Amino acid sequence: MRLRRRRPSINQLARRAGAPKFRPMNPVEIEEAVSNLALEPFDRAEFPFQFLRAFDNSDTTSKRLRSGSTNQSDIPGGVLQRTNIHIATCAPGEVDATLKALRESPKTTSAKAKFILATDGEAFQAEDLNGGGTVACSYAEFPDHFGFFLPLAGITTVREIRESSFDVKATGRLNRLYIQLLKENPDWANADRQHDMNHFMARLIFCFFAEDTDIFLEEGLFTRTVEQMSAGDAANTHRVMAEIFRAMDTKPEDREAAGLPRYAIKFPYVNGQLFSGSTDVPTFSKVARSYLLHIGSLNWKKINPDIFGSMIQAVTDDEERGSLGMHYTSVPNILKVLNPLFLDDLRQQLEEAGANTRKLLNLRNRMSRIRVFDPACGSGNFLVIAYKEMRGIEAEINKRRGEADRRSDIPLTNFRGIELRDFPAEIARLALIIAEYQCDVLCRGQKEAVADFLPLGSENWITCGNALRLDWLSICPPTGTKVKVTSDDLFQTPLDQVEIDFENEGGETYVCGNPPYIGDKKQTDEQKLDMQRLFEARTDRWRSFDYVCGFLFKAVEFGRRLGSGWSAAFVTTNSVTQGVQVAQFWPLVLGGAEIQFAETSFKWANLAAKNAGVTCVTIGLSGYDARTRKILFSDGTRRTVTAITPYLTAGETVLVRERAEPLSDVSEMLLGNFAKDGGNLLIDHSEKRSLDDVAASFLRPIFGAQEFIKGIQRYCFWIPDAKEIVARQSAMLRERFERVAEFRRNSTKAATAAWAAKPYRFVEIRSRDYERAIIVPRVSSESRDYLPTGLLTPRSIVTEAFALYDAPLWNMALIASRLHIVWVSTVCGKLKTDFRYSNTLGWNTFPVPVLTERNKADLTRCAEDILLAREARYPATIADLYKAEAMPEDLRRAHEANDEVLERIYIGRRFRNDTERLEKLFELYTKMTGKKAA
Ligand SMILES: C[S@@+](CC[C@H](N)C(=O)[O-])C[C@H]1O[C@@H](n2cnc3c(N)ncnc32)[C@H](O)[C@@H]1O
Repeated sequence: MRLRRRRPSINQLARRAGAPKFRPMNPVEIEEAVSNLALEPFDRAEFPFQFLRAFDNSDTTSKRLRSGSTNQSDIPGGVLQRTNIHIATCAPGEVDATLKALRESPKTTSAKAKFILATDGEAFQAEDLNGGGTVACSYAEFPDHFGFFLPLAGITTVREIRESSFDVKATGRLNRLYIQLLKENPDWANADRQHDMNHFMARLIFCFFAEDTDIFLEEGLFTRTVEQMSAGDAANTHRVMAEIFRAMDTKPEDREAAGLPRYAIKFPYVNGQLFSGSTDVPTFSKVARSYLLHIGSLNWKKINPDIFGSMIQAVTDDEERGSLGMHYTSVPNILKVLNPLFLDDLRQQLEEAGANTRKLLNLRNRMSRIRVFDPACGSGNFLVIAYKEMRGIEAEINKRRGEADRRSDIPLTNFRGIELRDFPAEIARLALIIAEYQCDVLCRGQKEAVADFLPLGSENWITCGNALRLDWLSICPPTGTKVKVTSDDLFQTPLDQVEIDFENEGGETYVCGNPPYIGDKKQTDEQKLDMQRLFEARTDRWRSFDYVCGFLFKAVEFGRRLGSGWSAAFVTTNSVTQGVQVAQFWPLVLGGAEIQFAETSFKWANLAAKNAGVTCVTIGLSGYDARTRKILFSDGTRRTVTAITPYLTAGETVLVRERAEPLSDVSEMLLGNFAKDGGNLLIDHSEKRSLDDVAASFLRPIFGAQEFIKGIQRYCFWIPDAKEIVARQSAMLRERFERVAEFRRNSTKAATAAWAAKPYRFVEIRSRDYERAIIVPRVSSESRDYLPTGLLTPRSIVTEAFALYDAPLWNMALIASRLHIVWVSTVCGKLKTDFRYSNTLGWNTFPVPVLTERNKADLTRCAEDILLAREARYPATIADLYKAEAMPEDLRRAHEANDEVLERIYIGRRFRNDTERLEKLFELYTKMTGKKAA
């Protein structure tokens, strides 16, 4: 999950405005600032301001608080920052009393402080007044709790981050070293050395971990050896490290002949491809050497491989480095995929086995043959969590069978991945190795874990390459025969070739992950090519597919080739389950699989650097199995259903396709008119007064989404063919026609260019004369509970919107209903986070029961009531009136009444929720389209 950042404060915004390149501090920078503060001598008066600065508050904030203009504290020496924190420093020994005073201070409550903090420079205590957590530690240790205070910097954290300050700290220190080394060794930044640099960083991380966890027989062996054997000026640091690495790549039997220096002999043989290949080490300056020694002094026992992996990924990525420490996919989100995919089933089998040793043994055997495969594994967080969870279940089995210290039967190499980028791929493998060791320590004790740990297996089971081009079967084969990675692309071979057997062949295979989503407009040429190669032979609509469709498709192809015993589950953006893409993409997948489980839209905050609110779904697929019940998680509930549609509703597969005419007995809806005029046939309100009489006589109000929703007054010149000559009498208009003609002539589209000959008129005209038009904008914000629709006065021209001309008003009641917005948001999909309306896909497909005259009269009255409630607020705009949290009561009541009337027509009562609405609509749609077809 990308950590959510609260809206910036006014101060932060002001600071941003003054500093063009401003970006908020990331957790790594905050941790560093906090650690530096703890190293400085304690200054009782200054501490509160220093503390706030470390959490990304500006100097101006400090200045104002210091001057007292914003400091509302009622505690002597206290500093109270509204809605954030109340801090007080105190004389030695008075921390308890000071914290009590802060807690009881009326100002703490009235200023809505989130935290209170008291310190005397020796002891440090703090409380989170909303979350209820506390910190009580020595002053020197308070940086270890920096995660606790991250909300002060506007960063809302997940629990794991709060408890894992080590991972942030280590990421920050390694980042600093990485940057320093590249500065000193610019050639290592080149593409051809990038892999060496990444590999070097992975080696370092391993050494730091190993020296703190008894894997190296002496504690701190690596850091100490580098410190003692390399000169203070760092001239030979790289040579010392190279010898240590060489030792770790030399088998015991080859050591004598290898001529290793005495200091390197103490290092064990490691293998695991970690120390094989080039032993080159970048050169170190004194500064880089001191960074290295400092990193070595951290306690690497505390590393959490799934968190650390996610964070450290950004180190080697120039674009992502700014958000270092912000990447983190939380364990609960990963479990949304893994639990229903297979972990729930394992846990259930464990529960059913109880103390029955035979059943327990069966389960253990089953688990030892399970393969987990993430084709876009990043730094391996899904694989690490899957591994850790399975080891937890295995530990319970072994405990119940009286074999608590039994060696694990779950081979690490059954957890396979593909990752495009080199560094995350390195880290994924390392993260799994660390996870295995930590699980061994937990289950069997440190001694046993150490005894079994080295040497590491020689395989590399994380493949660095392009998953959409690689043959997944060769990376994750069903049998144990030796295989070699082959690329689908003859000209491109993956960097790392996997040539490795599965232990325990013939088990189940689970594909999982959160592959890159990437909408069609954002794909690179390379990615477009990936999609073309995959889909071209199957559909000509592939250009509009999200990149993640490639992974869903390959997963099902992979499953089809495996035959049985496979399932796949991914987190994806909900765009693949909405809109026109559904009917185009899903038939390609549903030929070989069905949806076994799904979780409907939830917010997942790790999808794009600047997007904190992407809505995601999880989709679990496997081969057909009519017997199994499918599971649908939606609106916080879990339902067992017989089938799940690609729109993630309960029911047999239904695909909604565009229709030229309405399916139901409703009025025709037309797209608006398009001028293609470079803006020259349009004017705004202020220009209206300066028109000559001829020009003014052709003026008509024009409405698109903006004009209708925000009440913006704009006009257009609407000149019928028959009036061209009259219009040309106006010099103003003639001048505008010139510009229109020029604009159209420059168009790359021949059809538009041809309209240069008639510059006085719109290119696309669908209007006709009418008494009344109902307008529906093409795009509108998802934050509203209802689609904005309304009436236009006669003579208005519709553009960038749809219109129903002279349609009975009950049509508007349908469009304004909850049922319709639910339908449209599902079948039309969204543009970013806005509803994207379409007459052919949203209106012409909308299933409406046969309406009696009475129904129509009731709905007409409802539409009138909605219009009257709006009218009562004139001149409030649609944008003002339809803010979900501030909708006027009478307007909301009018909509509720409309929904009540309409929903009774559908089912004789109100629907319980949107899920029920959608399911009824799909059911009716299936029935009505079936009837039409018949
Ligand atoms: C959304 S991330 C998920 C990674 C990880 N599970 C996490 O939560 O951090 C997607 C990953 O897919 C990788 N990726 C992108 N395109 C790929 C491709 N064609 N083949 C393999 N991996 C790819 C990216 O480098 C990135 O690490």
